[in-house]
Amino acid sequence: MIPAGSSFYSEEELAGLGLKSFGHAVKISRKASLYNTGRIEIGSHVRIDDFCVLSGCSDGYLKIGWFVHIAAHCFIEASAGVEFMDFSAIAAGGVIYGGTDDYSGEHLTNPNVPWDMREFAWKPVLLKKHALAGASVTILPGVTMGECSCAGAGSLVVRDIPDGEMHVGIPAKYLKKRSFRMLELERRYREGLADGTYPCGFCRDLGAGAGDRT
Ligand SMILES: CC(C)(COP(=O)(O)OP(=O)(O)OC[C@H]1O[C@@H](n2cnc3c(N)ncnc32)[C@H](O)[C@@H]1OP(=O)(O)O)[C@@H](O)C(=O)NCCC(=O)NCCS
Repeated sequence: MIPAGSSFYSEEELAGLGLKSFGHAVKISRKASLYNTGRIEIGSHVRIDDFCVLSGCSDGYLKIGWFVHIAAHCFIEASAGVEFMDFSAIAAGGVIYGGTDDYSGEHLTNPNVPWDMREFAWKPVLLKKHALAGASVTILPGVTMGECSCAGAGSLVVRDIPDGEMHVGIPAKYLKKRSFRMLELERRYREGLADGTYPCGFCRDLGAGAGDRT
């Protein structure tokens, strides 16, 4: 339950945003901007912080799973589609593009010119379970961040990151392996939500699989 006067939208206000769907314990800052909300699906236990700009775009989709955090000042442009699977997150200042203009010089660019003079590539972006993008990470169209993978602060992710790998830099390159222990913690957390160790009235009804979409 979000208290009155909170900096997050109340449940009633959330219902008025026109989202395709949203679960429980959803905290969206009143200072975030959401566009094409009919294309945005949000799971439960999700937080979207101040000054985020999220667009489902006119033809895209933005799917946000359970236990996802989108920190302050993120920009998510989902022209082809962007999906955050459960427990994934992007730290402050992150940018994700699901589409981009052609930078070769062969075409005009930007939204103020006719479409027939632009060349725009749409490619979906996927953050699998527990994928973590650090502060000021930019993810370009078509990238999949693997399960339990991460990108270090300031990285430019231009290629897929395999499961359980840590990549850093511009462009992001392999640094080292990441532990998969988080999967065991996830299992314990889900069980704890179901048995009341971690109180959530809604999750308790769902049993040990609370929020498990995979
Ligand atoms: C990627 C990261 C997790 C690595 O941390 P670490 O395991 O302690 O690694 P180290 O600091 O030992 O660095 C190992 C090497 O990677 C380099 N490196 C570390 N982070 C880097 C980054 N973000 N970009 C480029 N290079 C990086 C280091 O310079 C070092 O290079 P060297 O061996 O040539 O000296 C960490 O640096 C990082 O970026 N964390 C993100 C934090 C963040 O954004 N938090 C937001 C709130 S959740």
